[in-house]
Amino acid sequence: MYILGFESSCDETAVSLVERGEQNRILGEKIKSQIDIHAKYGGVVPEIASRNHFEVIDILCQELLEECKIKLEQIDGIAFTQGPGLIGSLLNALVFAKTLAYTLNLPLIPVNHITAHIEAAFINNKAIEYPLLALVVSGGHTSIYFQEEKFNNKIVAKTRDDAIGEALDKAARYFNLPYPGGPVLDKLWGKGEYDKELAFNKPKFRDETIDFSFSGYKTGIINRAIKFDIKLNSDRYHNLIRTFMEDTFDYLLYNCQKATELYPAQSFVVAGGVSRNTLLRKKFSKKIKEKLYFPLPQHCTDNASMIAWLGSEKLIKFGDKKFRNYEINSFSRNS
Ligand code: KG4
Ligand code: ZN
Repeated sequence: MYILGFESSCDETAVSLVERGEQNRILGEKIKSQIDIHAKYGGVVPEIASRNHFEVIDILCQELLEECKIKLEQIDGIAFTQGPGLIGSLLNALVFAKTLAYTLNLPLIPVNHITAHIEAAFINNKAIEYPLLALVVSGGHTSIYFQEEKFNNKIVAKTRDDAIGEALDKAARYFNLPYPGGPVLDKLWGKGEYDKELAFNKPKFRDETIDFSFSGYKTGIINRAIKFDIKLNSDRYHNLIRTFMEDTFDYLLYNCQKATELYPAQSFVVAGGVSRNTLLRKKFSKKIKEKLYFPLPQHCTDNASMIAWLGSEKLIKFGDKKFRNYEINSFSRNS
């Protein structure tokens, strides 16, 4: 069975073809990142993002099929990111997938972007067992999910303001580092030492929650740079980056450890763009007692293989008939 998947929720246009059955593998994947286009604005500009998806999605699809030597008539289902994401961006994968599915008379499988981030860990780890806890850390999300089994997804914590990726990107932007800041800070944290005077307190809520808040970290790093008159590229600058990274990741870990007490699980997945981070991976590998899994680095950040993979799982589980609604849109909440 061949499933084509499309992703266009933010600033990556991506297409993937997976084969399921005797062979369970990615036959091919293509991604066109818009990072260079948005870098000069210091973040994603939604209108520019949607126009760029529109220009490349058909070309990427055609190239992928040619490279995989698979014809459209051989495809068994079309999966696409239904949401969440930037609406103008999401519409590109939606319309393209819908048109293909309708004209080829194929099942059209809506996929939730966040659940797909978790599913990405299954592509390279076939032995993940349920129940499972998953931390999704990206530019738009910081949430913990509990899955008793696949497709039984319960959110147990979320950010009440900014996502961790946003805090990393904004901190980097303040120091004139290129966008996206997360990968750049990943290269810098090792140059500094943890500095107690610059330490960040964990946010506290009045209620007994394991929700997150990153707005204090985001402004906190800038306040410390001003208060201590920290010069770019100085030792203290590197110490500030190190302390910021250590404290934000320890905070993630702290809430995740609380989640493991509340929701006993066999496995723990960390997914989303920020899960590429080397310091985060080190800290989680040391402290999480459950079996720990990460997606491959190329499947941590936005990609279409996670969409095609989860789409194929849904098609296998729920059958062809469930996915014949060609009137589906990006506002529906059933993916
Ligand atoms: O999952 P993703 O591609 O998009 C969203 O769904 O938001 O995540 C993008 C985020 C950005 O904030 C980027 O800075 C961060 O992932 N990121 C990293 C690393 N690679 C990407 N953050 C820390 N360390 C990295 N190595
Ligand atoms: Zn994402």
